[in-house]
Amino acid sequence: MKFHLRSYGCQMNRLDSELVASKLVQAGYEPCEEESEAGILLFNTCSVRDHAENRVWSKLGALRARKEKEPDLLIGVLGCMAQEHKIYLRTRMPHVDLVCGTMDFGKVDEYIAEIREKRQGLVQTGDLASGDEVVRDVRLRPNRAQAYVNIIRGCNMPCTYCIVPATRGLEVSRPIAEILPEVESLVEDGVTEVTLLGQTVNAYGHDLPGKQNLARLLRELHALPPLRRIQFITSHPNFLTRELMETMSELPRVSRYFHLPAQSGSNAVLQRMKRLYTREKYLARIRDLRDLIPDMEFASDWIVGYPGETEEDHELSKSLLEEVEFSQSYVFKYSPRPLTVADDYFEDDVSEETKARRNQELLELQGRISREKNRALLGEVVEVLVEGPSKKGEGRYQGRTRRNRIVHMDGLGTAQVGSYLPVRIDEAMHHSLVGTPVGAHELE
Ligand code: 5AD
Ligand code: SF4
Repeated sequence: MKFHLRSYGCQMNRLDSELVASKLVQAGYEPCEEESEAGILLFNTCSVRDHAENRVWSKLGALRARKEKEPDLLIGVLGCMAQEHKIYLRTRMPHVDLVCGTMDFGKVDEYIAEIREKRQGLVQTGDLASGDEVVRDVRLRPNRAQAYVNIIRGCNMPCTYCIVPATRGLEVSRPIAEILPEVESLVEDGVTEVTLLGQTVNAYGHDLPGKQNLARLLRELHALPPLRRIQFITSHPNFLTRELMETMSELPRVSRYFHLPAQSGSNAVLQRMKRLYTREKYLARIRDLRDLIPDMEFASDWIVGYPGETEEDHELSKSLLEEVEFSQSYVFKYSPRPLTVADDYFEDDVSEETKARRNQELLELQGRISREKNRALLGEVVEVLVEGPSKKGEGRYQGRTRRNRIVHMDGLGTAQVGSYLPVRIDEAMHHSLVGTPVGAHELE
């Protein structure tokens, strides 16, 4: 029996999909790329914005006809939308057989077996939480050299716009004693870059006994020599402690690219968002970390058109973007989400046109800064981890620098995927670079 699994949303979702696939393969199912060839269709979904949900609703709607023709086709919705809509997902889409929440996919194979046996739908969304623990088969991962590792699930922060605490629940950290063996076996199987995942990854460990925190975990991972790059996403500015900063500065293999979402540059908006920091405090953290690691690069998420956001507030976001000189920005138009404070108490009062314009303005500003940063690299030789064929095609390959810049290269083949090459930068675009591998040997 073949299954097709499609993932929407964040990296945590992609990892969850990997774990679900791992579970199903262990249970004897076979993964397949082609939706039309699969007897089981699974969608691991995202609720963070309206747009993400609408894509899934229309996908599910379009499958109604196929389900009528093939009643044995099993359709499953996993993840955040399952958690958010629970049984109501099947009220709206009765042809969906399985609704499986973010804390329940550990038994997805059993749910599928039950649905097939009883020939009736099943909704499992945490009430009898079956857990999300999967004994990971490290060999089943999409990239040979790179792997995600979950270290903390859930979110305890009160951000008023965000549905994640409702869909992912309270924070639960995995003990270091559980994470280390997983990373060790990934490393033994050829992984050289790990990305530690959590919704508030730098809050890691506060719920664990003894002194288990991100700084200590980074130190322990840094002691595994085959690991060349250690990254972590996504951080909350308030948990960027002095200890974490100092640890990062002492560990050269920890990434020099820091995703630290500011969301807004206006204190009035930050307060309504309940981000629990001010622009000044945010800037002070950036300054402190740059004092320790001068070449640190930062990336941010921004929400434009938050309820009550004025033109002055928006200008403050622009000025923060310029002041920090982020290397990347992910800009989102505010979208009211159910189960959030903002949806209950604030009116979505910024027009769609204004949101679109502000979105464009931040992106243009970021584009200018990124291009300048990219131009500064012209002629330099940088270390690139080759990731695979270029998404733009043309027979090229692409990889990433230690600062998360995408580099396109000619003249490589599958043999180089996973290797670290010295690459000279020849061309700088807004969002990526073009380079030529120099020297015949891999970097040691
Ligand atoms: N509307 C728009 N953007 C949102 N984000 C989270 N919730 C919302 C929302 N309701 C953005 C934030 C977050 C990113 C993952 O998605 O910027 O950092
Ligand atoms: Fe989407 Fe957030 Fe759920 Fe990730 S945790 S899938 S971003 S809603």
